[in-house]
Amino acid sequence: MRRALPALVIAAACVAASAQITWTPIFLDGSSQVDLWTQSSTGCACPGGIGEDCACCVRDGACPCGDIAPARCAQCGLEQYCANMCNITIDSRILKTKSGKTFGQIKSPSIEGPGSCSYLLQPDAGQRVEIQLYRLVSVGRFNGSSCVGGWIQLGGATAVKSAGGAAETRLCGANERYSPPVVLFADHGASTLEFRITEKTVRSQFLAFFSFTSLSNTQGVGFHPRGGSRIPHTDCDWLYQDVSCRGPGTCVLASPGYPGLYPPHRRCRYLFATNSVNTRVKIIFTSILLPRNHCATDYLSLRAGSSPSAPLLASLCSERTATLEQPGPNLLLEFNSGPLAPPYDYNGFIAKLEFIDRDDSSLPPPTVVPASPPLAALTHLIQNVDRVAAMESNAVSNEVSANNGGRVGCGATVRGYGAGGARSGHFDTRASGWRSQCAIHLLGAPTDVVQVSLFNYNLRLQSCRSHIEVLEGLHDFGGKERGDRSERGDRAVLRVCGPSVREARDPSGRFLLRQAVTSKGANLTILVRRAATQSVDEEEFVDGAFAFHDELHEGTASPDATCAATHYGLASPKHGGVSAPSHHHIFWNIEERLQCSHRFIPAANQSVTIEIQRLDRMWSAEPTGTVGAAGCRTACGDAGCECRANTPLHYHDHIALVAGDGTHLSCLCGDFKAAWLPVVVRSWTSARLEYSVAHYTYASRGFDYAAAYSFNDDAMCGQRTYTTHSGEIASRNVSVTGSLNEFFYQQCTWVLDSNVERQLFIDISSEQDKSCGSWNITLHEWSGSGAHSDGGLAAAAGELLYTFCARHKNHTYTLPWRLNTVVIRLVALSRQQPLYRIRWRSQVVRANNRLGPPTPVPAASAGTSSPTNDISLIFSLLLWVALLKVV
Ligand SMILES: *[C@@H]1O[C@H](CO)[C@@H](O)[C@H](O)[C@H]1NC(C)=O
Ligand SMILES: *[C@@H]1O[C@H](CO)[C@@H](O)[C@H](O)[C@H]1NC(C)=O
Ligand SMILES: *[C@@H]1O[C@H](CO)[C@@H](O)[C@H](O)[C@H]1NC(C)=O
Ligand SMILES: *[C@@H]1O[C@H](CO)[C@@H](O)[C@H](O)[C@H]1NC(C)=O
Ligand SMILES: *[C@@H]1O[C@H](CO)[C@@H](O)[C@H](O)[C@H]1NC(C)=O
Ligand SMILES: *[C@@H]1O[C@H](CO)[C@@H](O)[C@H](O)[C@H]1NC(C)=O
Ligand SMILES: *[C@@H]1O[C@H](CO)[C@@H](O)[C@H](O)[C@H]1NC(C)=O
Repeated sequence: MRRALPALVIAAACVAASAQITWTPIFLDGSSQVDLWTQSSTGCACPGGIGEDCACCVRDGACPCGDIAPARCAQCGLEQYCANMCNITIDSRILKTKSGKTFGQIKSPSIEGPGSCSYLLQPDAGQRVEIQLYRLVSVGRFNGSSCVGGWIQLGGATAVKSAGGAAETRLCGANERYSPPVVLFADHGASTLEFRITEKTVRSQFLAFFSFTSLSNTQGVGFHPRGGSRIPHTDCDWLYQDVSCRGPGTCVLASPGYPGLYPPHRRCRYLFATNSVNTRVKIIFTSILLPRNHCATDYLSLRAGSSPSAPLLASLCSERTATLEQPGPNLLLEFNSGPLAPPYDYNGFIAKLEFIDRDDSSLPPPTVVPASPPLAALTHLIQNVDRVAAMESNAVSNEVSANNGGRVGCGATVRGYGAGGARSGHFDTRASGWRSQCAIHLLGAPTDVVQVSLFNYNLRLQSCRSHIEVLEGLHDFGGKERGDRSERGDRAVLRVCGPSVREARDPSGRFLLRQAVTSKGANLTILVRRAATQSVDEEEFVDGAFAFHDELHEGTASPDATCAATHYGLASPKHGGVSAPSHHHIFWNIEERLQCSHRFIPAANQSVTIEIQRLDRMWSAEPTGTVGAAGCRTACGDAGCECRANTPLHYHDHIALVAGDGTHLSCLCGDFKAAWLPVVVRSWTSARLEYSVAHYTYASRGFDYAAAYSFNDDAMCGQRTYTTHSGEIASRNVSVTGSLNEFFYQQCTWVLDSNVERQLFIDISSEQDKSCGSWNITLHEWSGSGAHSDGGLAAAAGELLYTFCARHKNHTYTLPWRLNTVVIRLVALSRQQPLYRIRWRSQVVRANNRLGPPTPVPAASAGTSSPTNDISLIFSLLLWVALLKVV
């Protein structure tokens, strides 16, 4: 035991670092040395001068063990443990004072299992605890997932108490010599090296070196992360932002414990977040060393977005180095580790992070989306293009198009239509040469409005002398306006006064609330006024995004909502198409749920048909981070398609057709199959199509879909009041698409009204054999209670009198005498159009006309009637009864 493993020690001494694993070199003086502190076991004077046959110690830092082990020396300060180095504390400061060294050796006693020894290693400020393990004898074994029978473990000072934890860094082996050594680092202050044998053994032992390694060591062993910030309440997650990583080498990240062995069963996430649209993230993995054949559990993955469900860009495992470069705004690097598996010859990864401002204009410009000719029935505009182009050439401006590779900076004019036009893009005043006065012109087609969203800006001059103005129309500095001549002041849709600073994100990496405006007209100008001179660091600038929105074809844009448009049956084209938002540039700073809605409002005698024709794969992002389509299922039945999920629907990508009153008419998600398409809903009330991306990222942009709509003049469900004493309302066949998933949604209200006393008989018949749930007709008393938010007659329906279901076939309802006004409602959500016939006739008592008091007449529309109606009705009834008695 005394001369344990000198050969190994020497071998280790010759290697400062293997290919990718580094450790603090701890050298022996000569090849005949016994151990780190003993030059030779005999030949030197014994302490106290009694005898000449004691050990010779190395010159530096060693002290003789004395009587307890005359043939050995130990590190000064640890001599008392010569014979039994077990259950001791090694304090960096004391050791340094006594031996002048910050490293040493731990040679455990040879213990008979079960048994244990622990070593508390107390580093000084700015130090890490480093362990180099060379030798294990009868220290348990690895059963494929963990160590059984015994282990060596390095943990925090408190880790001993949680020794049962499965995710501890535990090493074991029956008879192992490690060359290079197994290297472990601990960065949580005082750390405990625990040596524990839980089974019966004859002789269990280990040999290791330790070092209190300075964090400022530049040879790799002093690694500590740079430039990032720990994400609170996480195990090992970090945020790296471009604003804190300026300059090469300012940001460095690595697996936990680098360059030592990393702990098992960990998932560490590194989020890289950019504030600027043109910034790319370059990750230079200078070393990757993961265990061979464990790629299923030990790997790195990079995703395009901040969520673990974002699209996968790269996966690394067996690579030794790699460089990845991706655009922002968010990237997520995830490091996963499985069980700690022998032979412990790996150490994770280290990477440098660079945020690159791309100003290489030779790159293709991904910043601009060309105006797509099919989108526009804009052909009528082409004739205007020449005129506009002529105007442009007169104006002192450099036109930006999708083809010229230019970035949108000062002096740019962006045309939203025609060849070379762009429908959306990013702008940045830093993209062009310095000007104190900067104008960007956005020129839309006549039916366009323009949306502008500001991401970052810096305005320094006080009292608004630096400012940003977003103005309707086309303007230049000096008050002269191109186009029309109204005052600039009135035309401002947004004004930001200096001094003012906005960064797209807060310090925790989250995007700020959007600062966005929508124009009323087709043309918009962004004017920026700045100081005449700028320092490079303090440059005044603004960046953001713009998008043209064609109100004729894409619906009326809601100025307040991020992504909402309304199509009015009377104003918009009778037929059209809608699809996933293409204006993704203005969603650059959205990293969350994105919901876009198209609202369709048919006129009184119209219905709207919405047909989902194409649908891409949708995802579910469960809160736990598991990814897949399994989280949400689509179930189509007689009453439409339904999204079924155990978690709230906003965790799942989905597309839903929703009636004005919130009824879900159809919802598609998850496993939806293309063969089930098209899904068609024909609605006689307003309906909206909701496109919902559970976790939108600029890089992935959500799923695609295409839907067609048409407004039909079918006058079938017009909310009408009939004053005739008899009549008929019958369904009329409407054309069907024949799709398997075609649904009809009707909420019709008719009022039968009379100003004379009568008894009403209402016949309702249907030949359809449908359940009550798919459609039904109800008869109600009239109630004048208030206006409905829909403005319709629905609220006029008072107490329910009768319900007719299709399976009743034919039924005659006799209404109470003198119930002069009746509300008939049809509600349907069904695969088939409800087919029915409603006939009514009245029995009028002539005498009533003369004798009866006037019956209250319900107003033609809800809201004009008052509660007095009910009272006067009761009053008139009483009066009439009284009169009858008199007669
Ligand atoms: C070391 O300390 C532990 C806990 O106090 C004890 O169980 C163990 O027996 C000790 N080891 C030796 C060799 O004394
Ligand atoms: C290995 O040991 C652990 C802890 O005793 C046990 O939970 C696990 O099932 C064992 N695995 C195998 C493959 O035997
Ligand atoms: C937008 O500007 C162009 C060029 O000055 C002009 O021809 C066009 O009429 C303007 N559009 C609107 C809606 O004002
Ligand atoms: C639909 O209503 C509008 C106005 O309410 C009316 O002008 C039009 O003639 C109606 N169309 C039909 C087919 O009833
Ligand atoms: C309406 O359509 C149904 C089935 O599609 C058909 O049986 C019926 O004869 C049609 N009625 C009219 C009035 O066209
Ligand atoms: C009437 O039909 C509607 C729409 O299909 C349904 O929601 C409702 O439950 C039905 N009412 C009854 C009493 O079945
Ligand atoms: C329904 O029944 C009434 C009388 O019971 C009858 O007069 C009417 O013709 C029937 N209608 C249909 C469509 O069967």
